[in-house]
Amino acid sequence: MDKPNKRILSGVQPSGDLHLGNYLGAIKNFVSLQDEYECFFCVVDLHAITVWQDPATLAQKTREVTAAFIASGIDSKKNTLFVQSQVPQHSQLAWAFSCIARMGWLNRMTQFKDKAGKNSENVSVGLYSYPTLMAADILIYLATHVPVGEDQKQHLELTRDIAQKFNNDFKNDLFPIPEPLILGEAKRVMSLRDGTKKMSKSDPSDYSRIMLSDTQDEIIQKIKKAKTDPLPLPDNLVAAKSRPEALNLLTLYAALSDADTETVIRNYAGKHFSQFKKDLGDLASSKLAPISLEINKLMNDKDFLDSIINTGKEKAISVAEPVLKQVYEIIGFLSR
Ligand code: AMP
Ligand code: TRP
Repeated sequence: MDKPNKRILSGVQPSGDLHLGNYLGAIKNFVSLQDEYECFFCVVDLHAITVWQDPATLAQKTREVTAAFIASGIDSKKNTLFVQSQVPQHSQLAWAFSCIARMGWLNRMTQFKDKAGKNSENVSVGLYSYPTLMAADILIYLATHVPVGEDQKQHLELTRDIAQKFNNDFKNDLFPIPEPLILGEAKRVMSLRDGTKKMSKSDPSDYSRIMLSDTQDEIIQKIKKAKTDPLPLPDNLVAAKSRPEALNLLTLYAALSDADTETVIRNYAGKHFSQFKKDLGDLASSKLAPISLEINKLMNDKDFLDSIINTGKEKAISVAEPVLKQVYEIIGFLSR
């Protein structure tokens, strides 16, 4: 079997509206990597059902994430865009991996602790074992690189541990040890209401996040209302780092304008937030409006989206199946 040396896999959950964190932390980077790598981009619906999803909404959101990939500039011909549940090899490998991963490894996952909170007796088993499925998503394609936001770093480390233990236990070198690619100026986009909390789909406040589906006016209003402190803008990075809300808005400006944060800090040093927020609102709305328009256009062409999803499924299965076959042989399952 050919072993790729520059293959990407990444996934986005169809569990709510996509926000600026998903765009800057993940999707925008996918776009810039597609020329250099062979890419598999996956809508991870199996991950989404680790918490309750309304069935009709799940189907709609699954198409919407696919549309967002394309609208952001991912070429659906060049790359493989597909839906996780349509490629059964992910779940099949995930079972084997749940027998490789150790309880102690999963017990350390901070995302589980955050999501389960005090309710850990009553969350799904899937929410707990989720990182073993994520490892399967990546390794079933023998992916070498995984572009993600910073919040996924620990899951990537677990993926590396699983690959290593599988290779060691069965004395083979099937799986690569995949590298995270945590790129761009906005690796962890924070809530607009609280600079110490991650921007997320599950925050109850709509004003905490900018959605890809927001209108230009909504984007401008949300940035205008974003929490800040009473001081003028900082004049250096060290000072900015002690002011989480200011730093978040500055890194958003940097990421959206493809500049580095220090240059943006220099340009706005000592200025008032009112001017900066106006500029950031204009910048964000001008960058996001064309994407949102294109998503809406694609969502009205269900047949086109479904044909892309279908082609992606065939391509994904043709790569995943031979890897699964080899895993089964290595484990000692009778051949099918
Ligand atoms: P999810 O919506 O949880 O499936 O996340 C999809 C991708 O977006 C993953 O690569 C995440 O790391 C990334 N992501 C989600 N939230 C943020 C955030 N607030 N800042 C940066 N990246 C994020
Ligand atoms: N766990 C990721 C998140 O919540 C989504 C995801 C699932 C993923 N499988 C993946 C990301 C494989 C990268 C590679 O954001």
